[in-house]
Amino acid sequence: MARWNEVVLGFVKCGLLFGIMFAVLGIFFLNCIGPWLNSPNYKPPHLSFIGDPSTSMGIAFETPEACNATVYYGLSETDLNMSQTDNQLRTLHFFNLTNLLPNMTYYYLINASERNYAFMNVVETFRTAPPFGSKDPIHFAVLGDTRPDIFGMTKHKELLDLIKPRKPDFILNVGDIVLGPTYTHQWDRFFYEIGDIAKNIPYMVSMGNHEHHEAGGEADAGRTYLKYMHFPGVEEYYAFNYSNACFISMNIQSEESITAEQLDWLNKTLTNANNSVEINWIIVYFHTPPYCTTESHPVIVERVVEPYLVPFKVDLVLAGHHHHYERLEIDGISYVISGGGGAELDLFVTPTEWTSSIANTYQFCDILINGTVLNLYCVDYNNLIIDQLTLTAWRNV
Ligand SMILES: [Fe+2]
Repeated sequence: MARWNEVVLGFVKCGLLFGIMFAVLGIFFLNCIGPWLNSPNYKPPHLSFIGDPSTSMGIAFETPEACNATVYYGLSETDLNMSQTDNQLRTLHFFNLTNLLPNMTYYYLINASERNYAFMNVVETFRTAPPFGSKDPIHFAVLGDTRPDIFGMTKHKELLDLIKPRKPDFILNVGDIVLGPTYTHQWDRFFYEIGDIAKNIPYMVSMGNHEHHEAGGEADAGRTYLKYMHFPGVEEYYAFNYSNACFISMNIQSEESITAEQLDWLNKTLTNANNSVEINWIIVYFHTPPYCTTESHPVIVERVVEPYLVPFKVDLVLAGHHHHYERLEIDGISYVISGGGGAELDLFVTPTEWTSSIANTYQFCDILINGTVLNLYCVDYNNLIIDQLTLTAWRNV
């Protein structure tokens, strides 16, 4: 009798064990596959700055089948009295709307004569920047390393859902948005995740090492990134002026990425910004940080920081690459690592002697500039402010 009891108990234990295993595997499977199943096989409209943000706006999207497309736009929702048409049959579409008025809300609608995808024939809005040199407030959000982890999971969309109600003027992503440049489904997923916010707010990106090459795998030198992204100039690195600030995005994600051409461009861009009476703020953002708890001083960024960022009195440097939040103050420059954007968090973080604040959590930065004062708030996954920085511009006249 006792033996039968042991056999039944054994079956019950095995059943419980298998039940728990199946439940865990089921949750894991849904977490991995769910977001991909939800990703459409097109890229919804996403805005970016191409030229002067006060007078132009870039709109890009991808359709499942090749088609022509028209963007109708105007200052009234009921009178879209301007248009741009591309009669070429293509899947990747890009429009640069120019000759816009500063500081205005524009309405736009995308139409294709032979197709009608979900994002078409819907009136959307965007807002042009204040005139260059004005002291109008600037509000932007920063996040980085939003790529999926090796199990296909990321908190990117949840963080964007926290950013959206704050109504920033634009978003900066400091890189690593996919696990590898040739992972087609992850590009689809990235544009699906940003679709709800980037149809109304420009979403600017700096190239990360994962957009340039896969970990231990194939390098496509950022070709896929450059195919989907539309930024000013050579696009691999670029700059734009917004109100009284100059934003400079560099391509810093490997030793080879810091070319002589890029450094020459950086020198000219910093010189022009520093000499401009309209510009109070110089904000530089790129992927691999110069200073960090886990990698205190990578050689590649010494070539940028010491001869350029310090002498030109850059106000703020934003980076990612390491999956946590960290703020450091060195030689009068504030360095912020905002790498808790969705990928797996770092295992351990220990402050360096220069670290002012550190948090190993999912987060983004919410930054407001008002004249010559900047306030940076680090916001965590629970929408709580976990760090704050107030800066006065070096160029404060
Ligand atoms: Fe990275």
